[in-house]
Amino acid sequence: MNSPELTKLNRKYGIRDQLVFTEGSGGFVWAEIKNRHAEATVALHGGQVLSYRPQAQAPVLWLSRKRYFQTGKAIRGGIPVCWPWFGDHPTDTGMPAHGFARTAAWSVYASEQLEDESTRLTLVFADSEATRALWPHRFRLEIEVSVSDFLRVKLICTNTDNKPFTCTGALHSYFNISSISNIAIKGLEECPYLDKVDQGRRKVQEGPISIQRETDRIYTDTTAACTIEDNGLDRQIDITKNGSRTTVVWNPWTDKARRMQDFGDEEYENMVCVETAIGAEVVVTLAPGGSHTLEQVVRVGSLSSHKD
Ligand code: BG6
Repeated sequence: MNSPELTKLNRKYGIRDQLVFTEGSGGFVWAEIKNRHAEATVALHGGQVLSYRPQAQAPVLWLSRKRYFQTGKAIRGGIPVCWPWFGDHPTDTGMPAHGFARTAAWSVYASEQLEDESTRLTLVFADSEATRALWPHRFRLEIEVSVSDFLRVKLICTNTDNKPFTCTGALHSYFNISSISNIAIKGLEECPYLDKVDQGRRKVQEGPISIQRETDRIYTDTTAACTIEDNGLDRQIDITKNGSRTTVVWNPWTDKARRMQDFGDEEYENMVCVETAIGAEVVVTLAPGGSHTLEQVVRVGSLSSHKD
């Protein structure tokens, strides 16, 4: 983006001492948010939150040091938006994994300083000839990012077509952790899941999740909040959600990490994905004019104080 366009964006949507649009890596526009609660970066590429850090905390989101900032490629880390399908396309393996929203150019729709001095930024992405060639529907997607001492992300999809459509998706959140051996994920106990590293077998979660190998699980039919307890950072990350009956937990471990070009060989140690998702089994069908909101709220607290 050239500087007159950046100037225009800053004039219209910038907020003094809170929100500035800059040219980030790869020439992508980044919204840099800083307020008395936290700081965050949101890329217009993919409508993707790249970072979030409340005051006096280590970064909450993980971003691969080998990520691409390239047109047509997804950014490995932060919160990619998977839509209108999660994972592989249901019938066509030639289609991009996790849909096309995460590689699309989004636009700024609104920005606002809220009463408690937190900041809200709304981006929008709608169908075009290019999207209709991949998925023959008219739609409007909005992502609303609120940066406070918590991070709220709302993905609102609306059917602007004259026929119904079905979609799946996810807020594919990558969390920064001290070490994969230091964490436990709680909240999914007794939940059924599909184990993608064991031929999609249907299993039931016993106890909290600790990760000691490649893990790729789709927890079906759960609206539960999850907590990542991190003993190394002495903190817990609470993830609550709305409009989602599916949670995905993913860590590629060693071999898969090596196979991914945009993922450092050892980086699996410091990340875990806990994804607020729609699908695989509970999809969303929208009638013309209908809309659905997928919402995730992330809060960080001290582990010791929660244990007291
Ligand atoms: C997870 C999937 O949500 O995303 C995994 O469950 C997949 O199967 C992972 O490997 C990463 O996907 P991608 O397309 O970003 O490499």
